Amino acid sequence: SAIDTFDYVVFGATGDLTMRKLLPALYHRFRDKQIPETARVIGAARSVLSDDEYRDRADKALRRFVKPDALDEDLIHRFLGMIFYASVNGAEADSTWENMTRLFDDSVADKIRVFYLATSPELYGRICGNLAAKGLVTESARVVLEKPIGHDLDSARAINDEVGQYFVETKIFRIDHYLGKETVQNLIALRFANPVFARLWNADAIDHVQITAAETVGVEGRGDYYDHSGALRDMIQNHLLQVLCLVAMEPPGSLDADNLRNEKLKVLRALKPINAADVQHVAVRGQYGRGMVGKEIVPAYLEELGEGRQSDTETFIAIKAEVHSWRWGNVPFYLRSGKRLPNKVSEVVVQFRETPWSIFNTKLEPNRLIIRLQPEEGIQLSIMSKDPGPDGMVLRPANIDISFEKAFATRYPDAYERLLMDTVRGDPVLFMRRDEVEAAWTWVEPILKAWKEHPGTPHHYTAGSWGPDAARTLIQETGHVWHEDM
Ligand code: BG6
Repeated sequence: SAIDTFDYVVFGATGDLTMRKLLPALYHRFRDKQIPETARVIGAARSVLSDDEYRDRADKALRRFVKPDALDEDLIHRFLGMIFYASVNGAEADSTWENMTRLFDDSVADKIRVFYLATSPELYGRICGNLAAKGLVTESARVVLEKPIGHDLDSARAINDEVGQYFVETKIFRIDHYLGKETVQNLIALRFANPVFARLWNADAIDHVQITAAETVGVEGRGDYYDHSGALRDMIQNHLLQVLCLVAMEPPGSLDADNLRNEKLKVLRALKPINAADVQHVAVRGQYGRGMVGKEIVPAYLEELGEGRQSDTETFIAIKAEVHSWRWGNVPFYLRSGKRLPNKVSEVVVQFRETPWSIFNTKLEPNRLIIRLQPEEGIQLSIMSKDPGPDGMVLRPANIDISFEKAFATRYPDAYERLLMDTVRGDPVLFMRRDEVEAAWTWVEPILKAWKEHPGTPHHYTAGSWGPDAARTLIQETGHVWHEDM
């Protein structure tokens, strides 16, 4: 549905995220007539640019990152006309702020304004302070914080405290774009609208769960950010833990934002704490060396960083997690993410327990429910069935296969499209609440600390492989194998 008019201000407007994701997402929503032409998109960054110079950059970004069949000259022209630019030192209280404030001189106070901070998280507090000092934080203002919120628990708390001085919690939208993915939201539907699964969703029936987010790309010019972050901070602390929450949480009383987030928080707080001595038994880190991804020979991580660089940063991580609750007993949840793996795939594999007794001669494969979050979104349930033929009871695994792409012939909107519109609507259900972010940091922090105190090179893996051998050993200890080895 169409939305009241608004101003969407993006700090970090010349950056990769704005160009690659935010502007294309806003364009798509405009194209679908959700955004009125009276709305403004205001880019803010330090570079000195005119509106037209910034529109040129936006134009190029749209042509590069929007699929050709969605590009329409008239729409692009009208959309670019809604874009403005302010050259501002967001973190300083200097005169450059006039470039921003003058854009609001004639603005009515109750017009919705969203401030999206796509900058380094150290600047969030100061930018919010300046927004408030310039009188831009009105009743209908809200702020959107990109992940990562900090680099550990203390820094996350400090940022949350500082931003909290200027915006109340209900006006703070902490983005985790995995929550905007249709298939991630579909986990909620799968679990709570289908009693057939709901009744089996516990330690009695489930043997273990694997959550994987694999990528083929390397660090792609984001080396400076990534090398300070690594896979644990970049993917596990937020995206994979959020998916784990949706898989493991109790049914919320309703889909109201706080009900849902309370249940996710309980999962994060029920994660078995990892103490320093356990780290080496439950977490494996890896870094890719030169190798072949698809048909392409790609350089090692260290080569991508640049001449002569040394680094202990992990580009791969596998962790064994446990949710200590009545529902989950001792069910392991294996989390795994890495760059330069053989395929781009994000999925949840739920493996059910074996039959208590077999009357067949064939080895029975356990039932597995595979929820593919991306690409080729869909659900697969593997079942044992009789091989047709006269040779008696020979069994083999077969799949019940549902492709969402085929079942619903609509375009899958990018995660950011949904989330950006939610920030305008003021709907926080798909955003992380402060306590969730902090609980997630609390859980990962012992791993960060142990790695820091015992620097040692991460395990090597060849680009294009499924990570270091140690990841295989980690899961084999409980008698399991990763999905690709099943
Ligand atoms: C981002 C990470 O949050 O998620 C990136 O910073 C990663 O390193 C990306 O590539 C993966 O997102 P998606 O939607 O492609 O799975």
